[in-house]
Amino acid sequence: MPGRPARAAKKVAESGVQRCVNSACGATYGLRERIYLCPRCGETLEIECQLPRPKSPDSLRRSWAASANSKLPRDLSGVWRYHAMLPFDEDAPLVTLFEGNTPIFHAPRSAEYCGLSDLRLKHQGYNPTGSFKDTGMAAAMTQAVISGARTAICASTGNTAASLAAYAARARMQAVILLPHGQVSSSKLAQSLDYGALVLEIDGNFDACMRLVQELGDDPSIYVANSINPFRIEGQKTVAFELMEQCLWQVPHHVVVPGGNMGNSTALGKGFQELLDLGLIDRLPRLSVIQAEGAAPVAHLFAKLTPKQRKDFENLPEKLEPVQNPQTLATAIKIGAPVSWKKALRAVLRSGGKVITVSEQEIADAKAMIGRDSIGCEPASATTVAGTKKLVAAGHIGRKDDVIAVLTGHALKDPDYMIRYHEGKLASPAAAGDASGAPKPIAGAFQNAPQRVAATKAAILASLERQR
Ligand code: F0G
Repeated sequence: MPGRPARAAKKVAESGVQRCVNSACGATYGLRERIYLCPRCGETLEIECQLPRPKSPDSLRRSWAASANSKLPRDLSGVWRYHAMLPFDEDAPLVTLFEGNTPIFHAPRSAEYCGLSDLRLKHQGYNPTGSFKDTGMAAAMTQAVISGARTAICASTGNTAASLAAYAARARMQAVILLPHGQVSSSKLAQSLDYGALVLEIDGNFDACMRLVQELGDDPSIYVANSINPFRIEGQKTVAFELMEQCLWQVPHHVVVPGGNMGNSTALGKGFQELLDLGLIDRLPRLSVIQAEGAAPVAHLFAKLTPKQRKDFENLPEKLEPVQNPQTLATAIKIGAPVSWKKALRAVLRSGGKVITVSEQEIADAKAMIGRDSIGCEPASATTVAGTKKLVAAGHIGRKDDVIAVLTGHALKDPDYMIRYHEGKLASPAAAGDASGAPKPIAGAFQNAPQRVAATKAAILASLERQR
């Protein structure tokens, strides 16, 4: 039941399959099988569920519009009100913290900064644990309950951890979290501790944690909650449905997202594709993914693709060259070997989007600009505005195009970064190959350091005057 911890393991709908994304393999498996990679070829899996067959696209739109006004517990979740699009039975024991239903803001200052006449920001940081992970976690934890799992595990740069910790607690399941020691913001770490997860700090980076999770996932008692789990993607794809409803079904020209492990871009791509398949939209928005310069394996691959490969996206290169020692202050996306790269790259190419990089300076200034729009976000999310600015300058995004950038995490996820930026103390990590190894100071264009003033009216008025 929505809003309550689910107790019993129940049956899962068999109205779908898990399909290997490697087109040369294409093996299918039942939804009940607890697997994360294709046992036959090792590729990632994708869920193919039977989509509803509405009388007309309008009838489905109308039923969703009605659910948005419903007070039924299931409809209060921005994931579960799209239940018909998800691989779960009517009586599935839905786990929810009332995720989704996140706002879209107009961001006039950021628009001007990017050279656009308008820019909208869909803020996934307004989810229960402050990041976009919650929509996917609602689905993954529901599936974990159905499969009878007692322990759920994830590798994380912090947000998946906080989300898993919260949703596992709601489902009365043990949560085990593998974090790269010393590389996670204190806010995210604090959340996981507070929700009662077992937090294991690993001597190694995110990619090392992710490898360990994949090994541990072989143990039948352990349920993997990273986005390698295709049920996570199912929950996250609902963001595309919600976004289109909020846009009154006018397809934006571009949707821009950050890229780390590439689950988010995979999920949005799948969501838009399903809307297209159902005739609810008549074209795909161009989906572009932005990576931080020091952690950009997919952008590197994208830049090397030939025009033929960009069109033939079913036959992408077999392997991605990982970044061995990824570096960025946007710690959420400090990832060198993303697990969902192929699914994400396919979605980008199918839509006519791009995968590009932005520098630490560009991320930091874009983030401050989003703050000036009274919106705010965590550093990884600001890659989207930094990337949009670059894509406008390069002519890929037209100045009058309708653009939605997806902000993935709340500003308070990383207050330390914000304070260091505004006090002029932020320094980007040394780039790979930089022999000096010295961090490079970031001179924030929109710095706003706190000022120490004497406790007098005159001193305060003088400060005010200086800022006017
Ligand atoms: N933005 C934020 C705030 C994130 O936390 C992440 C990923 C991303 C963007 C990238 O999304 O991985 O789906 O491409 N965070 C993961 C974590 C890795 O462990 O919290 P992605």
